[in-house]
Amino acid sequence: MKFCIVLSTRPEIIKLASFIKILKKKKENFFLVNTNQHYIKIMSKVFFNFFDIPKPKYNIKSLNRSHVSFFSKNLKEIEKILIKEKPSHLVIQGDTNTALVGCLACSIYNRTLEDKKKIKIVHIESGLRSFDETMPEEINRKIIDKLSDILFVPTRFDLNNLKKENVLKNKKFLKSGNTITDIVKSNLVLLKKNNIFKKFKIKKRNYFLATLHRPESVDNSFNFRKIIFSFKKISNLYKKKIIFPLHPRTQKIVKKLKIEINKNIIFTKPLEYIDFLYLMKNCRIIFTDSGGIQEECSVLGVPCVTTRTTTERQISVKSNMNVLTGYDNKKILQATKKFYNIKLKKSNLFGDGRVAERIYKFLKK
Ligand code: UD1
Ligand code: UDP
Repeated sequence: MKFCIVLSTRPEIIKLASFIKILKKKKENFFLVNTNQHYIKIMSKVFFNFFDIPKPKYNIKSLNRSHVSFFSKNLKEIEKILIKEKPSHLVIQGDTNTALVGCLACSIYNRTLEDKKKIKIVHIESGLRSFDETMPEEINRKIIDKLSDILFVPTRFDLNNLKKENVLKNKKFLKSGNTITDIVKSNLVLLKKNNIFKKFKIKKRNYFLATLHRPESVDNSFNFRKIIFSFKKISNLYKKKIIFPLHPRTQKIVKKLKIEINKNIIFTKPLEYIDFLYLMKNCRIIFTDSGGIQEECSVLGVPCVTTRTTTERQISVKSNMNVLTGYDNKKILQATKKFYNIKLKKSNLFGDGRVAERIYKFLKK
């Protein structure tokens, strides 16, 4: 087997880390292609370093930051790489533009190959659906699942989505769990000492944590202002800080809209994984629109308030670990009240922390 792994964004680096670790350990033949969708150090290099992921053999750089330029450059370059390297498998994770462009390039190139030479497309984190096609990720996921050959599906909910769409025919698939559980569980043991509390002058369970980066929450200024308004209310009402690491997309919007906050809302740059994990583990509630963080909350047993109208992680909502509030101030406050004094049990909804191992064994077989 020879694996070509196409990745770039922060969640892809994090969620592929345990699989890459196994490939290294087993001395499998693999190489990485970085599309540079995420390019600043704190969204990219810092994570490659922390998880000890080998340097990408190929670094594709688009001429400019437009999505069309990103897709056209990456399609061309990935095809060249596939022709040169002749991998047996191409691996992608999740639903980003990076995952889609890797999958598309391979699928289109495969059309020129005879059957036995076709490269198998492996989709890790398959079957998630928010049923909201205004999200670019929902379109990406559907195309990726259709074009992939081997699907690793985190939960029974996701498997059901694929069954309903009839996409499993002629494919290999496994309900594997989500690799995020490997990452959280293996890093919890490293959390003993951390200076992040000192930096923000906070204590265990004495603060909230927040992240936002979805276009519908931040590019939509009306929604963004509504969420910030709720955060101000909550920090005043509970007299607690809200630590809010800003994704670069959000940072730009904060500046553009000249967003004003109170002294209890602490904007900070994106954090390194271990610091962020420490903050997640010890906070009261996390307010987020992130997909990965909804999963991490369940693994850690920390309540999650998802400030979106839909989620593709419905299983955590059904299990009462996550509440969907949309952008509605009243609903955000109600969810905060509900979760404020609750301690949830850690859950294996998303997997048992041995997911990459399972994926590797399945591929070997
Ligand atoms: C992307 C994914 C999203 C994922 C998120 C993880 C798609 C369609 N979206 O969203 O599913 O949840 O990554 O964080 O693929 N920017 C920088 N520096 C960077 C990266 C981004 O300045 O290193 C800014 C740029 O202005 C860019 C904007 O953020 O235009 C959005 O970046 P983009 O990669 O298009 O989408 P994300 O919001 O990061
Ligand atoms: N994360 C991090 N530092 C931060 C914010 C998030 O390390 O300051 C991690 C978080 O623990 C999770 C991942 O980044 O594993 C989520 O990434 P993001 O929210 O950007 O993407 P999504 O999961 O929504 O695709």
